[in-house]
Amino acid sequence: MSESEGYRNEAEAEKLHEPRGVPLHNVHRHDVLVVGAGLAALSGALEAAKIGDVGVVTKLFPTRSHSGAAQGGIAASLANQEEDHWEWHMFDTVKGSDYLGDQDAIEILVREASSVVRGFEHMGCPFSRTEGGRLAQRKFGGHTKDFGKGGPVLRACYAADRTGHVLLHTLWEQCVKHQVRFYSEYLALSLIVKDKVCRGIVALDMATGEVHIFHARAVLLGTGGYGRVFSITSNSFANTGDGLGLAMRVGIPLEDMEFVQFHPTGLYPHGILITEGARGEGGYLVNDEGERFMEKYAPEKMELAPRDVISRAIQTEINEGRGIGGKGYVNLDVRHLGAEKIKERLPQIAEVVSKFAGVDVNEAPIPIQPTAHYSMGGIPTDLDCRVLADGKGEVLKGLFAAGECACVSVHGANRLGTNSLLEAALYGRRAGLALAREVKGLPFNEMPEEVAEQDLKMLERLLGAKGEEKVADLRKRLQEEMMAKCGVFRNEKDLNSLLETVKDCQERYRNIGIKDRSRCFNTEVVEAIEFGYQLDFTEAIVAGAINRKESRGAHARTDFKERDDTNWLKHTLALKIEEGIRFDYKPVTITRFKPKARVY
Ligand code: FUM
Repeated sequence: MSESEGYRNEAEAEKLHEPRGVPLHNVHRHDVLVVGAGLAALSGALEAAKIGDVGVVTKLFPTRSHSGAAQGGIAASLANQEEDHWEWHMFDTVKGSDYLGDQDAIEILVREASSVVRGFEHMGCPFSRTEGGRLAQRKFGGHTKDFGKGGPVLRACYAADRTGHVLLHTLWEQCVKHQVRFYSEYLALSLIVKDKVCRGIVALDMATGEVHIFHARAVLLGTGGYGRVFSITSNSFANTGDGLGLAMRVGIPLEDMEFVQFHPTGLYPHGILITEGARGEGGYLVNDEGERFMEKYAPEKMELAPRDVISRAIQTEINEGRGIGGKGYVNLDVRHLGAEKIKERLPQIAEVVSKFAGVDVNEAPIPIQPTAHYSMGGIPTDLDCRVLADGKGEVLKGLFAAGECACVSVHGANRLGTNSLLEAALYGRRAGLALAREVKGLPFNEMPEEVAEQDLKMLERLLGAKGEEKVADLRKRLQEEMMAKCGVFRNEKDLNSLLETVKDCQERYRNIGIKDRSRCFNTEVVEAIEFGYQLDFTEAIVAGAINRKESRGAHARTDFKERDDTNWLKHTLALKIEEGIRFDYKPVTITRFKPKARVY
């Protein structure tokens, strides 16, 4: 136990906090408390641990966090194999975002990318290398030479098709070395916010069912995305968007939630990720007629156009009856790459496709479809990851957010592949540096007396819930409707009916029943809590999609087909109020690249 972990004596605890209903041994104190253990969370934890005492609350064992599932690469204009420049990377990211990304945040992302990748290299991360021993780089969608005028550029650093895995393990080892204290299999229940200052969190130890209070000078949210609100997703079961729910419940508006990324190549029918690296290495897409149909949609960039463009192309082929055998998928062919290259660069893909689809990628094409993959929107922050209480300028003291749960916003309306690992590592690190700078000056603010009361009551209510509705049924209905009505293409009629479903599910959620009465690893209770978060922020996604009457990036409205810069070149802020969602807006930061028509 480190000296500052936990209260040193009862008198100190009494002074700072008088918990009701929570035994003192379940009250912990850390300079910085991080929620989540993916790339953003651990990057922040590692920096903060260099100056103070850091605790990490995570609902999984850290190395099982979803960042570990990222496959294809992390972008940085290292120019190891051919000419590249951060300015080219910046242009591609801005254009990829359909001009909604904030260019000050993007400039930081691309300028500091090389130092992030080199930082991992110096920590011993086992990247793939060129024959000359430099970090190898591959092509990815939307990453180009010469401000889009040239072809695809070798920009993504990678470790075969297990890049997220090696980055996550490297960070975790460093965190252990720097004595970060991990609380694994704890579910965050609420943020402790009083007088506009975040003072810690309340969490559930899933193994025992006990409630714990984490008192901190500052909290960093790095809780990842929410792909699990869709029925077809590349995301793991844990990706239920808890951090968004936590933030919404303390009155923080969420930014740009209508922008959901559908990765073009999810394995049919469940949507398991088939890395874009497969296309980066030369794989191509064909429809039932054997056509490389990307010729029609992005004649220059073909399979290496950005994801929104390719997902729309695939969905159009499927909708118009050119899916394979008229079904809901097209083929991704990598056979021509040869067994040796597949083994060296795409070994995990070969294994996953064989295990889950029974297909040998050396012998037959891979059946794929668009799959819910990534959230461009999230908790609004400033450039140092301080959470913005009003989404605009007012900082909520003591609360930071980074990675997929946050919106700084570097991805705007559509993220380029390999920019998410970069954003998570880079802005996670920035959050850690800001925490390290600021936390020394922050006091341990007093806890509110009633600190865990709401959560204790909520747990007792769930453990005794005898209602008619089943969480699993409500969740399935919501996931299927989200996929059908808020997917690659959207329209007002479908979205309105989906919003009714969301509201109906919210209503029915009040009347759920829980059969499992035990406190020990009660997954029924845990899933009910997670679903509660989902119901809150899903309303922001759907209402946001109805509200934005244009098509931009991943938000493709069939009833408003054009981008409308006159009315919609602005960020949405969605605040939960009694009657539903209230919208506010803020301008996009434009520095170097003025909006232009976006063609590939
Ligand atoms: O396709 C992929 O490997 C995914 C990468 C990403 O989402 O950045």
